[in-house]
Amino acid sequence: MDGLKVFSGSSHPALAQAICKCLGIAPGRLSTTRFSNENLKVRIEENVREQDVFVVQTSAPPLSENIVELLILLDALTHASARRVTAVLPYFPYARSDKKDEPRISITARLMADLVATAGANRVLTIDLHSPQIQGFFSMPADQLTAVPVLCERLRADGLEEAIVVAADVGEAKDAAVFAKHLGLPIAIIDKRRSGDEERAEAVAVIGDVRGKRCLLVDDEIATGGTIFSATDFLFEQGARGVSAAVVHPVLSGRALERLGASRLERLLVTDTIPIAATSPKIEVLSVAPLLAEAITRIHDGRSVSALF
Ligand code: R5P
Repeated sequence: MDGLKVFSGSSHPALAQAICKCLGIAPGRLSTTRFSNENLKVRIEENVREQDVFVVQTSAPPLSENIVELLILLDALTHASARRVTAVLPYFPYARSDKKDEPRISITARLMADLVATAGANRVLTIDLHSPQIQGFFSMPADQLTAVPVLCERLRADGLEEAIVVAADVGEAKDAAVFAKHLGLPIAIIDKRRSGDEERAEAVAVIGDVRGKRCLLVDDEIATGGTIFSATDFLFEQGARGVSAAVVHPVLSGRALERLGASRLERLLVTDTIPIAATSPKIEVLSVAPLLAEAITRIHDGRSVSALF
């Protein structure tokens, strides 16, 4: 594809390669050096002058280092005279820090948007932001894709008899409605409370009738798993026949994988917006590479991206 280049940061080279395969191009060449003082140097190893450049970097460990690498990479490309630089951020960093819900804290998702702009990005391409208002944090064009159709296609293939979509918490109700519309299913909503260190989640009620149903829990991300596993137990207590989950971003932090093994959750369907270090027989990963490749092609050609939603 003429004038189009894709570069990968260190966070998820497998996804960047899969995107490049879909596009029929080789990933751009660069080298990253870590000095003994922990400074990073990124050097673009090919000419990018007047090129339409996409940089793929997701929010994954080591998180802070990957953020700094992204910023240096964007800056290097800008100073190498790329015509346009798009930051492709499949899982947006600090997406949950999107509001000032305590005194004297940072709205860090907004800070991330500012940093990406300062580093030289002309636009952003991302997937399923934690909350829609994050899109407004950008002073540049920001395209937000959704992986819901990718997940729904797989769910439909499994059959949907006696199934019901269940929002993992009230904040997820709107997204759950999108799943329900795609799948032609009814919807229920879990009332979740957080306590203590805010990483402990407890399902306390469900709005909707789940008795005898195959519950399909949906959420934008699974981090420690507290939300999904607590909801699973609660749904079984309420008479559910089975519980599985479909989640876009598999953060899987803390003891999530261990807890998944012990949970009654039957299957966890996720996408590859984040690399999964260790896996489990319960996890099935679907790729967003074709979706991102199609969006990149459309941005490059100046065609509508919203047609993908
Ligand atoms: C919260 O608002 C999100 O939608 C997820 O429910 C949350 O990030 C999941 O976190 P955890 O897996 O740690 O409960």
